Amino acid sequence: MNYIVLNNGLKIPQIGIGTYKVKNIQEIINLMEYAKKANYEMLDTASYYNNEKLIGQVFKNNPSLKKQFLVSSKVWPSDFDKDNTKRSIENSLNSLNLDTIDIMFIHWPSEGFLEAWKVFEDYYEQGVLKSIAVCNFQIKHMDKLLANANIPPSINQIELHPYLIQEELKDYLKKFNIKIQAWAPLGRASQEMFNEKTLVELANNYNKTVAQVILRWHIDKGHIVIPKSAKESRINENMNIFDFSLQKDEITTIDKLNKNHRFSQNPDDEQWLTKIRKGLN
Ligand SMILES: NC(=O)c1ccc[n+]([C@@H]2O[C@H](COP(=O)([O-])OP(=O)(O)OC[C@H]3O[C@@H](n4cnc5c(N)ncnc54)[C@H](OP(=O)(O)O)[C@@H]3O)[C@@H](O)[C@H]2O)c1
Repeated sequence: MNYIVLNNGLKIPQIGIGTYKVKNIQEIINLMEYAKKANYEMLDTASYYNNEKLIGQVFKNNPSLKKQFLVSSKVWPSDFDKDNTKRSIENSLNSLNLDTIDIMFIHWPSEGFLEAWKVFEDYYEQGVLKSIAVCNFQIKHMDKLLANANIPPSINQIELHPYLIQEELKDYLKKFNIKIQAWAPLGRASQEMFNEKTLVELANNYNKTVAQVILRWHIDKGHIVIPKSAKESRINENMNIFDFSLQKDEITTIDKLNKNHRFSQNPDDEQWLTKIRKGLN
Protein backbone atom coordinates (compact mmCIF):
# COMPACT_ATOMS: atom_id res chain seq x y z
CA MET A 1 0.00 0.00 0.00
CA ASN A 2 1.14 3.54 -0.77
CA TYR A 3 0.39 6.33 1.67
CA ILE A 4 0.08 10.10 1.31
CA VAL A 5 0.70 12.61 4.09
CA LEU A 6 -1.75 15.50 4.09
CA ASN A 7 -0.78 19.11 4.90
CA ASN A 8 -1.98 18.65 8.50
CA GLY A 9 0.17 15.54 9.00
CA LEU A 10 -2.61 12.95 8.62
CA LYS A 11 -1.37 9.88 6.76
CA ILE A 12 -3.91 8.29 4.46
CA PRO A 13 -3.77 5.44 1.93
CA GLN A 14 -3.50 6.41 -1.73
CA ILE A 15 -6.47 4.19 -2.57
CA GLY A 16 -9.82 3.89 -0.86
CA ILE A 17 -13.21 2.56 -1.84
CA GLY A 18 -16.12 4.68 -3.04
CA THR A 19 -19.70 3.95 -2.01
CA TYR A 20 -21.84 6.21 -4.21
CA LYS A 21 -25.14 4.52 -5.15
CA VAL A 22 -24.62 1.59 -2.79
CA LYS A 23 -27.76 1.86 -0.72
CA ASN A 24 -28.70 -1.67 0.14
CA ILE A 25 -27.59 -3.15 3.47
CA GLN A 26 -26.42 -6.48 2.03
CA GLU A 27 -24.46 -4.70 -0.71
CA ILE A 28 -22.84 -2.43 1.89
CA ILE A 29 -21.94 -5.40 4.12
CA ASN A 30 -20.42 -7.22 1.15
CA LEU A 31 -18.57 -4.15 -0.10
CA MET A 32 -17.02 -3.53 3.32
CA GLU A 33 -16.11 -7.16 3.90
CA TYR A 34 -14.61 -7.60 0.42
CA ALA A 35 -12.73 -4.32 0.83
CA LYS A 36 -11.29 -5.39 4.18
CA LYS A 37 -10.23 -8.73 2.72
CA ALA A 38 -8.50 -6.89 -0.12
CA ASN A 39 -6.73 -4.59 2.41
CA TYR A 40 -8.50 -1.32 1.62
CA GLU A 41 -8.07 1.06 4.56
CA MET A 42 -10.27 3.98 3.55
CA LEU A 43 -13.94 4.35 2.65
CA ASP A 44 -15.66 7.35 1.08
CA THR A 45 -19.27 8.27 1.76
CA ALA A 46 -21.42 11.43 1.99
CA SER A 47 -24.62 12.56 3.66
CA TYR A 48 -25.96 12.79 0.10
CA TYR A 49 -25.37 9.06 -0.58
CA ASN A 50 -27.98 8.01 1.98
CA ASN A 51 -25.86 5.12 3.18
CA GLU A 52 -24.12 6.49 6.28
CA LYS A 53 -26.64 4.75 8.56
CA LEU A 54 -26.02 1.43 6.83
CA ILE A 55 -22.25 1.84 7.13
CA GLY A 56 -22.73 2.77 10.81
CA GLN A 57 -24.81 -0.34 11.35
CA VAL A 58 -22.00 -2.46 9.90
CA PHE A 59 -19.45 -0.70 12.14
CA LYS A 60 -21.64 -1.38 15.18
CA ASN A 61 -22.01 -5.07 14.42
CA ASN A 62 -18.41 -5.55 13.35
CA PRO A 63 -15.80 -3.56 15.33
CA SER A 64 -13.00 -5.01 13.20
CA LEU A 65 -14.46 -3.24 10.16
CA LYS A 66 -14.67 -0.02 12.18
CA LYS A 67 -10.95 -0.36 12.92
CA GLN A 68 -10.14 -1.15 9.30
CA PHE A 69 -11.24 2.05 7.58
CA LEU A 70 -10.44 5.72 7.67
CA VAL A 71 -13.76 7.33 6.79
CA SER A 72 -14.56 10.38 4.74
CA SER A 73 -17.96 12.02 4.47
CA LYS A 74 -19.38 15.24 3.04
CA VAL A 75 -21.78 18.08 3.83
CA TRP A 76 -24.29 18.90 1.09
CA PRO A 77 -24.83 22.57 0.02
CA SER A 78 -28.42 22.75 1.31
CA ASP A 79 -26.79 22.57 4.76
CA PHE A 80 -24.38 25.48 4.25
CA ASP A 81 -25.17 27.65 7.23
CA LYS A 82 -23.91 27.51 10.79
CA ASP A 83 -26.72 25.47 12.36
CA ASN A 84 -27.33 23.11 9.47
CA THR A 85 -23.65 22.39 8.87
CA LYS A 86 -23.36 21.50 12.57
CA ARG A 87 -26.45 19.34 12.33
CA SER A 88 -25.13 17.61 9.23
CA ILE A 89 -21.77 16.82 10.87
CA GLU A 90 -23.53 15.54 14.03
CA ASN A 91 -25.85 13.41 11.87
CA SER A 92 -22.89 11.90 10.05
CA LEU A 93 -21.16 11.09 13.35
CA ASN A 94 -24.32 9.51 14.78
CA SER A 95 -25.25 7.64 11.63
CA LEU A 96 -21.76 6.27 11.14
CA ASN A 97 -21.45 5.35 14.83
CA LEU A 98 -18.17 7.24 15.04
CA ASP A 99 -16.75 9.71 17.59
CA THR A 100 -14.50 11.27 14.99
CA ILE A 101 -14.47 11.46 11.19
CA ASP A 102 -11.12 11.29 9.42
CA ILE A 103 -11.92 13.58 6.50
CA MET A 104 -14.97 15.83 6.15
CA PHE A 105 -15.56 17.43 2.77
CA ILE A 106 -17.57 20.39 1.53
CA HIS A 107 -19.42 18.54 -1.27
CA TRP A 108 -19.82 21.33 -3.87
CA PRO A 109 -18.70 25.00 -3.95
CA SER A 110 -22.20 26.50 -3.72
CA GLU A 111 -22.75 29.86 -2.08
CA GLY A 112 -22.42 29.59 1.69
CA PHE A 113 -19.34 27.37 1.69
CA LEU A 114 -17.37 29.94 3.74
CA GLU A 115 -19.94 29.74 6.52
CA ALA A 116 -19.80 25.95 6.44
CA TRP A 117 -16.00 26.07 6.47
CA LYS A 118 -16.00 28.05 9.75
CA VAL A 119 -17.99 25.23 11.34
CA PHE A 120 -15.55 22.70 9.86
CA GLU A 121 -12.67 24.64 11.43
CA ASP A 122 -14.37 24.54 14.86
CA TYR A 123 -14.89 20.79 14.66
CA TYR A 124 -11.32 20.33 13.43
CA GLU A 125 -9.96 22.35 16.36
CA GLN A 126 -12.01 20.21 18.75
CA GLY A 127 -10.42 17.10 17.18
CA VAL A 128 -13.76 15.71 16.00
CA LEU A 129 -12.85 16.10 12.35
CA LYS A 130 -9.30 14.84 11.83
CA SER A 131 -8.96 16.64 8.53
CA ILE A 132 -11.13 19.08 6.56
CA ALA A 133 -11.31 19.25 2.81
CA VAL A 134 -13.31 20.27 -0.25
CA CYS A 135 -14.74 18.69 -3.38
CA ASN A 136 -15.25 20.11 -6.83
CA PHE A 137 -13.49 23.39 -6.13
CA GLN A 138 -12.23 25.28 -9.16
CA ILE A 139 -9.37 27.79 -8.87
CA LYS A 140 -11.80 30.68 -8.25
CA HIS A 141 -13.42 28.80 -5.36
CA MET A 142 -10.03 27.88 -3.90
CA ASP A 143 -8.91 31.52 -4.11
CA LYS A 144 -11.98 32.60 -2.16
CA LEU A 145 -11.58 29.90 0.46
CA LEU A 146 -7.85 30.41 0.97
CA ALA A 147 -8.35 34.17 1.33
CA ASN A 148 -10.80 33.60 4.19
CA ALA A 149 -9.84 30.35 5.89
CA ASN A 150 -7.76 29.93 9.03
CA ILE A 151 -7.12 26.30 8.13
CA PRO A 152 -6.48 25.39 4.49
CA PRO A 153 -8.20 22.32 3.03
CA SER A 154 -6.07 19.19 2.96
CA ILE A 155 -7.63 17.71 -0.20
CA ASN A 156 -9.66 18.74 -3.22
CA GLN A 157 -11.72 15.74 -4.38
CA ILE A 158 -12.47 16.30 -8.07
CA GLU A 159 -13.67 14.43 -11.11
CA LEU A 160 -10.42 13.17 -12.64
CA HIS A 161 -9.68 10.47 -15.23
CA PRO A 162 -7.95 10.16 -18.60
CA TYR A 163 -10.69 12.18 -20.32
CA LEU A 164 -10.42 15.02 -17.75
CA ILE A 165 -6.88 15.47 -16.49
CA GLN A 166 -7.30 18.92 -14.88
CA GLU A 167 -3.63 19.94 -15.17
CA GLU A 168 -4.16 23.65 -14.45
CA LEU A 169 -6.10 23.00 -11.26
CA LYS A 170 -3.55 20.37 -10.25
CA ASP A 171 -0.65 22.84 -10.65
CA TYR A 172 -2.51 25.35 -8.52
CA LEU A 173 -3.22 22.82 -5.75
CA LYS A 174 0.38 21.64 -5.74
CA LYS A 175 1.54 25.17 -4.86
CA PHE A 176 -0.59 25.07 -1.71
CA ASN A 177 0.22 21.45 -0.84
CA ILE A 178 -3.43 20.46 -1.22
CA LYS A 179 -3.68 16.84 -2.31
CA ILE A 180 -5.80 15.69 -5.19
CA GLN A 181 -8.35 12.94 -4.82
CA ALA A 182 -9.91 11.58 -7.98
CA TRP A 183 -13.59 10.77 -8.07
CA ALA A 184 -14.91 8.79 -11.01
CA PRO A 185 -11.27 7.67 -11.33
CA LEU A 186 -12.38 4.99 -13.80
CA GLY A 187 -14.51 7.43 -15.76
CA ARG A 188 -17.44 5.45 -14.43
CA ALA A 189 -16.18 2.50 -16.49
CA SER A 190 -17.22 4.22 -19.71
CA GLN A 191 -17.06 1.75 -22.60
CA GLU A 192 -15.50 4.40 -24.81
CA MET A 193 -12.63 4.91 -22.37
CA PHE A 194 -12.21 1.20 -21.64
CA ASN A 195 -11.89 0.56 -25.40
CA GLU A 196 -9.21 3.22 -25.97
CA LYS A 197 -6.47 1.58 -28.04
CA THR A 198 -3.70 3.15 -25.90
CA LEU A 199 -5.18 1.74 -22.72
CA VAL A 200 -5.92 -1.68 -24.17
CA GLU A 201 -2.34 -1.99 -25.51
CA LEU A 202 -0.82 -0.98 -22.18
CA ALA A 203 -3.09 -3.42 -20.39
CA ASN A 204 -1.95 -6.23 -22.69
CA ASN A 205 1.73 -5.29 -22.30
CA TYR A 206 1.57 -5.32 -18.52
CA ASN A 207 -0.80 -8.25 -18.33
CA LYS A 208 -3.24 -6.06 -16.45
CA THR A 209 -6.78 -4.86 -17.13
CA VAL A 210 -7.65 -1.43 -18.51
CA ALA A 211 -9.10 -0.49 -15.11
CA GLN A 212 -5.77 -1.37 -13.47
CA VAL A 213 -3.80 0.68 -16.01
CA ILE A 214 -6.04 3.71 -15.40
CA LEU A 215 -5.72 3.36 -11.63
CA ARG A 216 -1.94 2.93 -11.90
CA TRP A 217 -1.79 6.10 -14.05
CA HIS A 218 -3.49 7.93 -11.16
CA ILE A 219 -1.12 6.44 -8.59
CA ASP A 220 1.95 7.33 -10.68
CA LYS A 221 0.64 10.89 -10.99
CA GLY A 222 0.25 11.16 -7.21
CA HIS A 223 -3.56 11.20 -7.09
CA ILE A 224 -5.49 9.58 -4.28
CA VAL A 225 -8.17 7.33 -5.83
CA ILE A 226 -11.51 6.02 -4.61
CA PRO A 227 -12.83 3.64 -7.29
CA LYS A 228 -16.25 2.25 -6.51
CA SER A 229 -17.26 -1.33 -7.04
CA ALA A 230 -19.66 -3.54 -5.19
CA LYS A 231 -18.27 -6.71 -6.82
CA GLU A 232 -15.61 -8.77 -5.07
CA SER A 233 -13.58 -9.53 -8.19
CA ARG A 234 -13.39 -5.83 -9.16
CA ILE A 235 -12.67 -4.71 -5.59
CA ASN A 236 -9.68 -7.09 -5.69
CA GLU A 237 -8.72 -6.08 -9.23
CA ASN A 238 -8.73 -2.38 -8.37
CA MET A 239 -6.39 -2.95 -5.43
CA ASN A 240 -4.03 -5.16 -7.39
CA ILE A 241 -2.05 -2.26 -8.90
CA PHE A 242 1.03 -2.05 -6.72
CA ASP A 243 3.17 -4.62 -8.54
CA PHE A 244 3.81 -2.54 -11.66
CA SER A 245 4.24 1.08 -12.67
CA LEU A 246 4.04 3.04 -15.91
CA GLN A 247 6.95 4.67 -17.74
CA LYS A 248 6.99 8.46 -18.09
CA ASP A 249 6.16 8.32 -21.82
CA GLU A 250 3.27 5.94 -21.13
CA ILE A 251 1.85 8.38 -18.60
CA THR A 252 2.14 11.17 -21.18
CA THR A 253 0.40 9.05 -23.79
CA ILE A 254 -2.53 8.51 -21.41
CA ASP A 255 -2.55 12.25 -20.60
CA LYS A 256 -3.11 12.88 -24.30
CA LEU A 257 -6.49 11.13 -24.13
CA ASN A 258 -7.73 14.24 -22.31
CA LYS A 259 -10.74 15.91 -23.89
CA ASN A 260 -12.03 17.87 -20.89
CA HIS A 261 -15.00 15.56 -20.81
CA ARG A 262 -17.07 15.30 -17.64
CA PHE A 263 -19.30 12.36 -16.78
CA SER A 264 -21.14 14.45 -14.21
CA GLN A 265 -21.92 18.03 -13.19
CA ASN A 266 -19.57 20.91 -13.94
CA PRO A 267 -18.62 22.99 -10.88
CA ASP A 268 -18.69 26.09 -13.11
CA ASP A 269 -22.41 25.52 -13.69
CA GLU A 270 -23.92 28.19 -11.44
CA GLN A 271 -27.46 26.93 -12.05
CA TRP A 272 -26.51 23.53 -10.68
CA LEU A 273 -24.75 25.07 -7.66
CA THR A 274 -27.80 27.20 -6.88
CA LYS A 275 -30.20 24.33 -7.37
CA ILE A 276 -28.41 22.06 -4.89
CA ARG A 277 -27.98 24.95 -2.44
CA LYS A 278 -31.77 25.21 -2.44
CA GLY A 279 -32.08 21.44 -1.97
CA LEU A 280 -33.80 21.07 -5.34
CA ASN A 281 -31.75 18.17 -6.75
N1 LIG B 1 -17.21 14.48 -4.46
C1 LIG B 1 -18.07 14.22 -5.41
O1 LIG B 1 -18.79 15.12 -5.91
C2 LIG B 1 -18.20 12.82 -5.91
C3 LIG B 1 -18.98 12.56 -7.05
C4 LIG B 1 -19.10 11.25 -7.50
C5 LIG B 1 -18.44 10.23 -6.83
N2 LIG B 1 -17.69 10.49 -5.69
C6 LIG B 1 -17.01 9.40 -4.95
O2 LIG B 1 -16.07 8.78 -5.82
C7 LIG B 1 -16.34 7.38 -5.89
C8 LIG B 1 -15.95 6.83 -7.24
O3 LIG B 1 -16.59 7.50 -8.29
P1 LIG B 1 -17.78 6.85 -9.15
O4 LIG B 1 -18.41 5.78 -8.36
O5 LIG B 1 -18.64 7.93 -9.61
O6 LIG B 1 -17.04 6.29 -10.45
P2 LIG B 1 -15.90 5.19 -10.75
O7 LIG B 1 -15.30 4.67 -9.50
O8 LIG B 1 -15.01 5.77 -11.80
O9 LIG B 1 -16.73 4.06 -11.51
C9 LIG B 1 -17.65 3.24 -10.85
C10 LIG B 1 -18.24 2.29 -11.88
O10 LIG B 1 -17.20 1.47 -12.43
C11 LIG B 1 -17.50 0.09 -12.29
N3 LIG B 1 -16.22 -0.57 -12.00
C12 LIG B 1 -15.49 -0.50 -10.86
N4 LIG B 1 -14.35 -1.19 -10.98
C13 LIG B 1 -14.35 -1.73 -12.22
C14 LIG B 1 -13.44 -2.55 -12.92
N5 LIG B 1 -12.31 -2.96 -12.37
N6 LIG B 1 -13.77 -2.92 -14.19
C15 LIG B 1 -14.92 -2.50 -14.77
N7 LIG B 1 -15.81 -1.72 -14.15
C16 LIG B 1 -15.53 -1.33 -12.87
C17 LIG B 1 -18.51 0.01 -11.17
O11 LIG B 1 -19.42 -1.04 -11.33
P3 LIG B 1 -19.69 -2.21 -10.22
O12 LIG B 1 -20.03 -1.56 -8.92
O13 LIG B 1 -20.83 -2.95 -10.83
O14 LIG B 1 -18.43 -3.01 -10.17
C18 LIG B 1 -19.26 1.35 -11.30
O15 LIG B 1 -20.28 1.22 -12.27
C19 LIG B 1 -17.84 7.31 -5.60
O16 LIG B 1 -18.30 6.03 -5.28
C20 LIG B 1 -17.95 8.30 -4.47
O17 LIG B 1 -17.52 7.74 -3.26
C21 LIG B 1 -17.57 11.78 -5.26
